[in-house]
Amino acid sequence: MYFIANWKMFGSLNSINSLNKVDHFLKRFKKNRFVKIIVCPPSTLINPMHKKFKKTLIRIGAQNCHENENYGAFTGSINSRMLKNAGAKFVIIGHSENRRSGETNKLINLKIKSALKSGLKIIFCIGETIHEKRKKITKKVLIKQIDLGLSGIKTKKDIIIAYEPVWSIGTGVIPRERDLEASIEFIKKRFRKNKVLYGGSVNPKNILKLKSINNIDGFLIGAASQDPKKFIDIIKKTYN
Ligand code: PGA
Repeated sequence: MYFIANWKMFGSLNSINSLNKVDHFLKRFKKNRFVKIIVCPPSTLINPMHKKFKKTLIRIGAQNCHENENYGAFTGSINSRMLKNAGAKFVIIGHSENRRSGETNKLINLKIKSALKSGLKIIFCIGETIHEKRKKITKKVLIKQIDLGLSGIKTKKDIIIAYEPVWSIGTGVIPRERDLEASIEFIKKRFRKNKVLYGGSVNPKNILKLKSINNIDGFLIGAASQDPKKFIDIIKKTYN
């Protein structure tokens, strides 16, 4: 199971210490060989975290990248090559918070291609908005996001899909079990062999329900991942 922490735009150099608790927990956790932990902090914290935790079970990821893997005159941007150089092994691409600010499927596709070229593994986010859910076009939206996002990419082994219904992110609302199971199964069918995670308001309370979803390979966790106690609790409860 994957437990991916998305810290979003939170965290200072001091917050790195909060991962000590996670590291200690993992060392003592008997089932740690089944667990993959990836923490995606803001870019400023990637390198210090990488240095501090490189000998532990914690892997570091980034939250986005520029679509051009070469250096260039793009003020304020960071590309996948720089992220890799800083110590990231993964990068989240296509998060709905970025789609909302204008990231298209086409741009996401370019970003994924560039990140793969730089040797990063991809956490590819897809999911429908509440409006699309009400219109009952969830499947159509997911197909479009997957097909356009991954267009022209032959080897998909380094891509993990994170299904995140937009209406679940940061709202405390999670999908009904049978709906979630159906969506996960649908994505798995289109995307054989790859890992499919769920994201959106995952917390220590609802993890008991979520972990029982058929075929789920893990979770992308926002708010609850910034609190090491909650993050550890989520992992523990998944294996209870
Ligand atoms: P949340 O965020 O857990 O705070 O809902 C999840 C995400 O945005 O990846």
